[in-house]
Amino acid sequence: MRRLEDFRLHLGNHELVPIVIGGMGVDISTAGLALEGARLGGIGHISDAMVQTVSDRRFHTRFVSNKAKLYKYNAANSDKSAVIFDLGQLAEATHNHIGKTMEAKRGDGLIFINCMEKLTMNGPRETLRVRLRSALDAGIDGITLSAGLHLNSFALMEDHPRFRDAKLGIIVSSLRAFQLFLRKTARLGRLPDFVVVEGPLAGGHLGFGMDWADYDLITITTEIHRYLVAEQLNIPIIAAGGIFTGSDAVTYLESGCAAVQVATRFTVTRECGLPDNLKQEYFSAAKNDIEVNLISPTGYPMRMLKGSPAIGAGNRPNCEAYGYLLDGSGNCAYITSYNREVAAHPDAKKVSVPDKTCLCTHMRNFTCWTCGQNTYRLKDTSHRLSDGSYQLLTAEHVFRDYQFSTEHNIALPD
Ligand SMILES: Cc1cc2nc3c(=O)[nH]c(=O)nc-3n(C[C@H](O)[C@H](O)[C@H](O)COP(=O)(O)O)c2cc1C
Repeated sequence: MRRLEDFRLHLGNHELVPIVIGGMGVDISTAGLALEGARLGGIGHISDAMVQTVSDRRFHTRFVSNKAKLYKYNAANSDKSAVIFDLGQLAEATHNHIGKTMEAKRGDGLIFINCMEKLTMNGPRETLRVRLRSALDAGIDGITLSAGLHLNSFALMEDHPRFRDAKLGIIVSSLRAFQLFLRKTARLGRLPDFVVVEGPLAGGHLGFGMDWADYDLITITTEIHRYLVAEQLNIPIIAAGGIFTGSDAVTYLESGCAAVQVATRFTVTRECGLPDNLKQEYFSAAKNDIEVNLISPTGYPMRMLKGSPAIGAGNRPNCEAYGYLLDGSGNCAYITSYNREVAAHPDAKKVSVPDKTCLCTHMRNFTCWTCGQNTYRLKDTSHRLSDGSYQLLTAEHVFRDYQFSTEHNIALPD
């Protein structure tokens, strides 16, 4: 009976435990969680989603309040095109978050940053350019491109001195998306160092439509594996989404994947950035408490707990402070929905917006409880204490359980 420990992920000169802790914004995959992944010999992710907020929390900078002050005059205006990011400050915040994380790194593993293209920040190209390049400047080991096709992202880093030495890869949910990416980046003479293939059971945004249940991860990884073999391309596949036990992981490694990316099981660890009381919501969730809906203004379906306060909330858009989802013209689908409800209920003190949510505000406040499909199984991974709560786990415990378990066993904590 093979264990995940019997495999290794080779990335350049690195030989790694084939466990990648996936990026979870906004600071759900904290530096502390990513550092544990690296210390234990795998790969940990931090995320650059709302990095200015993250820098303010970690380092007491004042990026968000300063931005809010600067654009306060615009708060009641539904045209947000004037609300732009100061690129110098964006670079500084990225530098703070990544630089301090990399300084603290111990062990043989690696730390990557998850970079979502859908964070268009009222200036998609220039903000993404700064995010990617300042991550490289700050010494990140690798970048995982996500939430988008990223057809120009490699080109944005092309002339950076670390473009060929940092580990760069992308998350896709279909062979077609991956082929588009490869075709577009072919002229740069640099293949991605890895591809994360994320299936429909993942947390966060999904790379599928509302027909997500018609797809399954093993079919997609197998298809991409066959394609890479046929094209003689040596790009390690990292399978993600719904891999809950070490034995699940071994199935993917035996089918040609080089590693797995996992997240849900780490949401109930001490190192995870969710508030502890919210971790209990994740532990106690039933299958029926989880849904995939379309309230994210990105247009991608997103999985979350039905009890998320973000669902149906009607707060005034907070773009002056945040504004991460503003497209290149200062629009966000939530603003449109919010204005519609305000116009329909002119006398209401508060409105409810059923179809979209102010994702920046709710991810920032941990009131959008995004989760993987297997969240309802978390209760089987720990002890229930006498007060009815569940014992939090350590990242090391979960990591080692993936690494050493067999026969779908899940080790309970001491
Ligand atoms: C709470 C949570 C937040 C997530 N946030 C992000 C994110 O910001 N960006 C991203 O690319 N993936 C995100 N994901 C997806 C994970 O990185 C990972 O690929 C996936 O959830 C793995 O499947 P699993 O959760 O079943 O182990 C998130 C997942 C969870 C559970």
